[in-house]
Amino acid sequence: MTDTQTFARDIHKGLSAPLKHISSKYFYDDIGSGIFQDIMKMPEYYPTPCEFEILSLQGDNIIGKLNFDRPFQIVEFGAGDGIKTRQLLKKLVERQVDFTYVPIDISSKAIEELESNMLRHLPGLHIKPMIGNYFLMMEELAASKVPSLLLFLGGNIGNYEQHEVAHLLADFRKCMNPGDYLLTGFDLQKNPATIRCAYDDPRGITKAFNINLLHRINRELGGNFKTNQFDFYSHYNPVNGEVRSYLVSLVPQKVHVQHTDKCYDFDRHELIWTELSKKYTLAEIEDVATANGFNVVEHFMDCKNYFTDSLWTL
Ligand code: AVJ
Repeated sequence: MTDTQTFARDIHKGLSAPLKHISSKYFYDDIGSGIFQDIMKMPEYYPTPCEFEILSLQGDNIIGKLNFDRPFQIVEFGAGDGIKTRQLLKKLVERQVDFTYVPIDISSKAIEELESNMLRHLPGLHIKPMIGNYFLMMEELAASKVPSLLLFLGGNIGNYEQHEVAHLLADFRKCMNPGDYLLTGFDLQKNPATIRCAYDDPRGITKAFNINLLHRINRELGGNFKTNQFDFYSHYNPVNGEVRSYLVSLVPQKVHVQHTDKCYDFDRHELIWTELSKKYTLAEIEDVATANGFNVVEHFMDCKNYFTDSLWTL
């Protein structure tokens, strides 16, 4: 199946469901990845500077925990622009450690920019970028016996429901051997107002990020969404740590998608659920690790304790 066919099928499935749904993985086409760059620059979006701080100030401590006896690889799933990761890699390059950096991302534009930026800042870096869906890449990685540190940063794990987290971690485990490591970024529970502001910004950048999903259906699948007839709504529930985001149909309307020749009816105020961004407690993270067969080595946190990069081993 081509990527477009998979996209068309997922969109049809999601828009035919009783609660309409578009998976947040579809945010990241070239345009959406660009809008996400803008989100990361917003003053309200704290996860980026927090993780930047962790990797800059605690990079040496993280590296100090790794116990590899031969050249290894650092595989990053959903590498994006790689600016935060660069802080960690810099430490290794400075120490002339023998390793290869393998960034994986679905946006080819993001990967190309990442590669040239990395090499500009770290000319000695061995880099082997891969473009594509990380689940397909994992099969290739599972076959490799090179010692590995896997990176899943930025809080991307927050996008997965609990049962999906189990599948994801099982996939990571499949491409790991004993002695390998997984470093995962988790956004932590904090003052609910801080979280709310990060996901519903006053300039509407997060709204544009969500509306781009509809533009993307129009562009790639011949949809006829009138995007100004949709609003954005995001809700944080501090009881369970879940941010859930939605597009809201402002009028009763019909939308047609040429690629599949399907029509979808929207009631006034009907929702399309677009994203889960789960915020964790440290206790929950430890439960997730042990329930999925990992051992926690250490949680590396920023000075405000807003975010953690949690190092696990098999
Ligand atoms: C890239 C998944 C970590 O959930 O915080 C930012 C995406 N969504 N603002 C997140 C996002 C809305 C982001 N992750």
